[in-house]
Amino acid sequence: MQACNETGRWNIEDLDFSRIALDRVRSDETHFYLACSASFIESGSDLYTRNLIDFYEGDGEVTRWLREHWEPEELQHGRALQAYVRHVWPAFDWERAFRSFLGEYAGYCKVELLAPTRGLEMSARCVVETGTATYYRALARSTQEPVFADLATRIANDEVSHYKHFYRFFRRYREAEGLGRLRVLGTVARRTWELKSEDADCAIRHIAKVHAPERAEDARYLRDVAGRMGRTVSRHLSPGAALKMLMRPLELPGPVQAALQFPIELFMQRVFLK
Ligand SMILES: [Fe+2]
Ligand SMILES: [Fe+2]
Repeated sequence: MQACNETGRWNIEDLDFSRIALDRVRSDETHFYLACSASFIESGSDLYTRNLIDFYEGDGEVTRWLREHWEPEELQHGRALQAYVRHVWPAFDWERAFRSFLGEYAGYCKVELLAPTRGLEMSARCVVETGTATYYRALARSTQEPVFADLATRIANDEVSHYKHFYRFFRRYREAEGLGRLRVLGTVARRTWELKSEDADCAIRHIAKVHAPERAEDARYLRDVAGRMGRTVSRHLSPGAALKMLMRPLELPGPVQAALQFPIELFMQRVFLK
């Protein structure tokens, strides 16, 4: 059972780290990399939030939500995952690896990486939240360890709720900007492609520097880690729900959606398989 407070939010205190089945996870290096890289990317969310808040300056509803809900929730994802990693792998120097990661990652989070208009950026945010929701659902299914499954499920639910907000904002901007389906499709496709992205590879490299310094420069080892992570996630994906979320901003007629379903499903598999 998931506990939430009266606002629907949950806190790290709701997680019972004493219930972690250490014997099921401690020796699982792939799981370590999955949990740790997620903790890095989530903990770096404030870099993105700043950019987004600047981008939507003057739109009080959006900036307020980003500041009061979205950012604290993303950062909590980072803190909760970090606490999990520290609990299961106490010898790993999380701080040191994260600082090293941030040094490189900060360079990826530039305003010019945002979509050309506010409405298109909203559709791109829908894609990102779809990607993270799908990813955490797969992580929850991929593990036999109950506390991680619980944490990943809570995060996935938050990501779906983020999606819903971005989608609502998207509809408002689409009206205002008169966005056509084709432009939205272009943005959605581009951002879906970018999900594959540097983020995870960047995290893996910096985790390896601290976790396995003797192999941190070994390209084969790094590829092997990325491959194992990708396979773990892709085996547990359920692309159907993700597809529905991805397609919604396009508002395509039913038959067109059905025709696109299969190629997009294949594409989603490739995105996560690397
Ligand atoms: Fe998140
Ligand atoms: Fe999110």
